[in-house]
Amino acid sequence: MKILGISGSLRKASWNTAALRAVPALLPDGNEFSIAEIGDLPLINQDLEVDGKYPDPVQRLRSAIMAADALLFATPEYNASIPAPLKNAIDWASRPANCFAGKPVAILGVAGGLLGTARAQYPLRQTLGVLSVQMLFQPEVFIGGAGQKFDERGRLTDETTRDFLGKMLATFVTFAERVRTG
Ligand SMILES: Cc1cc2nc3c(=O)[nH]c(=O)nc-3n(C[C@H](O)[C@H](O)[C@H](O)COP(=O)(O)O)c2cc1C
Repeated sequence: MKILGISGSLRKASWNTAALRAVPALLPDGNEFSIAEIGDLPLINQDLEVDGKYPDPVQRLRSAIMAADALLFATPEYNASIPAPLKNAIDWASRPANCFAGKPVAILGVAGGLLGTARAQYPLRQTLGVLSVQMLFQPEVFIGGAGQKFDERGRLTDETTRDFLGKMLATFVTFAERVRTG
């Protein structure tokens, strides 16, 4: 199964992107994982859609999403909602033909505080629901206290979190396979 990771943070030292980088070592064998680039997308603007074509970075993201069997979002919370770069990427990929239709999706989030990312994850679920994804609702993954769970090089070092994430990924792969085979 080909899984595409999409981070809601453009920061080089992002904890959310760091969590996605930890995924390949925690995924069940036989699955592929890559991370999408969303930092170079223009702001959503229908004037940039010309004769049914999209700007190159948009087309690249759309192709990556369409080629993926499943999508894994990792997002921070910005002002109690979805970070603008992530919403922008989703809006571009939602344009005809909606790249998300029927895709198995899971969401996780990492924050320095204890509650962080819940207030981004719920609106994200709502938006993706409108786009007809197949959402893995449980387990919810709120990784708080990130300062104690990642080292200075962004490696996820906390064993409890690695174990939890590994189990969640196994659940997600099983879920995505079930969705794919109907
Ligand atoms: C514009 C902006 C708004 C933010 N709003 C919130 C917020 O509402 N709640 C919160 O817990 N953190 C908030 N933060 C802090 C981020 O969650 C924090 O920087 C986090 O580390 C970002 O994730 P990252 O490490 O993946 O970049 C905000 C940060 C920015 C830049």
